[in-house]
Amino acid sequence: MCGIFCLVSLSSAHFEWDKMVYEHLRSRGPNSSQDLTVISADSSFRCLFSAHVLHMRGLLTPQPFEDAFGNILVWNGEIFGGLPVMPEENDTAVMSKRLSACSEPSEILTVLSAVRGPWAFVYYQKAGDYLWFGRDFFGRRSLLWKFDPDIGALTLTSVAAQISTYDSAHWKEIPAAGVYRIDLKAAAEAVSMSLEIFPWTHAGINVIPHCCEVIFESLPCGCSGVMNKSGLALASPVCPLNMSIPKSSDKTEIHQDSYLSISDLEELLMSKQKTDEVSHLFRVLSEAVRRRVQSLPFKEPEYTHLTNKNASIGVLFSGGIDSMILAALADQHVPAHQPIDLLNVAFKILEPKQMTGSAKKTQKHKKTPTNPKTAKTGSQTLSPFDVPDRLTGKAGLKELRDLNPERQWNFVEINVTQGELQEMRQERICHLVHPLDTVLDDSIGCAMWFAARGTGVITKDGSQRPFTSSAKVILTGIGADEQLAGYSRHRVQYKMFGHEGLVQELATELGRISSRNLGRDDRVIGDHGREARFPYLDEDVVSYLNSLPVWKKADLSLPRGVGEKLLLRLTAKQLGLGQSAVLPKRAMQFGSRIAKMEAGHERGSDKCTRLLP
Ligand SMILES: *[C@@H]1O[C@H](CO)[C@@H](O)[C@H](O)[C@H]1NC(C)=O
Ligand SMILES: *[C@@H]1O[C@H](CO)[C@@H](O)[C@H](O)[C@H]1NC(C)=O
Ligand SMILES: *[C@@H]1O[C@H](CO)[C@@H](O)[C@H](O)[C@H]1NC(C)=O
Ligand SMILES: *[C@@H]1O[C@H](CO)[C@@H](O)[C@H](O)[C@H]1NC(C)=O
Ligand SMILES: *[C@@H]1O[C@H](CO)[C@@H](O)[C@H](O)[C@H]1NC(C)=O
Ligand SMILES: *[C@@H]1O[C@H](CO)[C@@H](O)[C@H](O)[C@H]1NC(C)=O
Repeated sequence: MCGIFCLVSLSSAHFEWDKMVYEHLRSRGPNSSQDLTVISADSSFRCLFSAHVLHMRGLLTPQPFEDAFGNILVWNGEIFGGLPVMPEENDTAVMSKRLSACSEPSEILTVLSAVRGPWAFVYYQKAGDYLWFGRDFFGRRSLLWKFDPDIGALTLTSVAAQISTYDSAHWKEIPAAGVYRIDLKAAAEAVSMSLEIFPWTHAGINVIPHCCEVIFESLPCGCSGVMNKSGLALASPVCPLNMSIPKSSDKTEIHQDSYLSISDLEELLMSKQKTDEVSHLFRVLSEAVRRRVQSLPFKEPEYTHLTNKNASIGVLFSGGIDSMILAALADQHVPAHQPIDLLNVAFKILEPKQMTGSAKKTQKHKKTPTNPKTAKTGSQTLSPFDVPDRLTGKAGLKELRDLNPERQWNFVEINVTQGELQEMRQERICHLVHPLDTVLDDSIGCAMWFAARGTGVITKDGSQRPFTSSAKVILTGIGADEQLAGYSRHRVQYKMFGHEGLVQELATELGRISSRNLGRDDRVIGDHGREARFPYLDEDVVSYLNSLPVWKKADLSLPRGVGEKLLLRLTAKQLGLGQSAVLPKRAMQFGSRIAKMEAGHERGSDKCTRLLP
């Protein structure tokens, strides 16, 4: 994980760092911080690069990385495949070497299309004075832009900060719809910033529906964009989604939400055939996890030292099926002596609080909130942090211990109080989530920030002690629900429009995962100097799932807990998992109870006033 930044300026106006932006960049890359400025011979343009590196692989390679020809690269990415990277090599250097061998744009696009793994980058191509930048196909790394007309400057950055609403320039996420190129000389001559766009395509067709509109809508005010008419483009790293629907479209019988017991659900799952698809998914997912847990700092003496009891890998862990599979697969690939940290976040279940102005209004017509005293009498031992995800997390821990009793599993209980949430949201998280701004962005952004901080307690030999995770890599389960129909809205689509509606919904969701989730998650997790990795969004995993028709991935005529993500549940069984294989989906904001912390009826898509400065 790195923090990268580039300011392209067409005037010689004085530039001053926003201290907060600089600090946020540094948090992402605590191991090396450097700036580098390029000024054109006639001073008509200037680029300031700033890079902050978290040391992951090879020897620490400081950035901005300048090659012998004067090309400059800032790279926030991981090459997990596609281009060879030897264990002792640093991928920044590998990338730079590849790029500097390119002269034509088509060659640069070929190199970028070949990379398997997440990336965001800015590259100054000295020959011709071009500036290239962009994000990978899914948008797994954040990159924002903003154009400031007063100083004629375009800024690109991994992370920003909230700015006052009076500011004329605004941050936006750069659409992960292609890569962009600025002809700096032409821009300086025209005194205007024009971007050339090279979209992601598959067999000559734009992969992102309405790609041009999406990009033009997101262009910073004051910049213009042109699609490359000669058809130069990036080649999509995954095959397109199989849109076929079953031939026999007999009226799909839909299982009413009946209340089957866990063991009924398990029995139902066991009755389903273990198909070739299960073994295939198992293989590609296992390989995706292997690549993500083994691409770690190399040759650090502590890494191979058997007595080191510090984990390198953490999992955002709710005990649900997605995170259980990641933990169980990590177990197969992480050296046996090394612990694995399971990061489990819980927000304190509140006593009804004195409500303030606006909250009171929306609550007026609601019944009194449940009295915590009556809740307590139910079970004497219930702690206010025993939220649903804590309970399933503990059950999941037990399953993992049964699976591998030799492994040291660090179940990190991360308890967050209302006061701490408010403080950290104001001080930090609102800036990281920005420019996203909804109630859902607030809930998930905050929950992930605390989870990824990894500070809580672990229980060892019957006693609890404070603990902070040492993991530099954090695996998250994002992408499983979007691809295998895990959300309740998928059931709604299926009920209303059958397989056709469902497959359309899945196509839409994968297309917008970068703007809905990934940029935000990357900014929030990266703030702790840790790197988020997403095995369900590995190119091979997505390609395989995309190739399957929807009915092999999910069967929504079956009850909740079995039908959605059916293929994944069968894979979990193959891995030896137990009850966690039949847990219904619970979104993080509800499972962690963060959504309960705020009074009133809010919809996830509402603008969140708590995120404002
Ligand atoms: C990188 O920075 C982190 C956090 O400051 C530190 O724990 C780690 O030892 C550093 N690694 C190297 C190789 O300098
Ligand atoms: C990074 O890798 C390149 C090529 O393998 C090597 O020449 C360079 O010295 C490395 N950088 C550092 C700081 O070790
Ligand atoms: C597309 O790219 C090629 C190669 O750089 C260039 O010659 C051509 O002018 C570009 N077309 C547009 C419309 O920018
Ligand atoms: C393990 O982590 C702790 C706390 O983060 C640190 O003090 C200790 O030096 C680490 N041990 C090794 C062997 O890296
Ligand atoms: C965190 O919550 C758990 C209940 O899930 C409780 O056992 C633990 O003592 C709490 N730890 C702290 C430090 O509050
Ligand atoms: C989609 O799935 C169907 C059914 O398995 C298969 O026959 C077809 O070849 C697949 N289409 C693509 C494009 O993979």
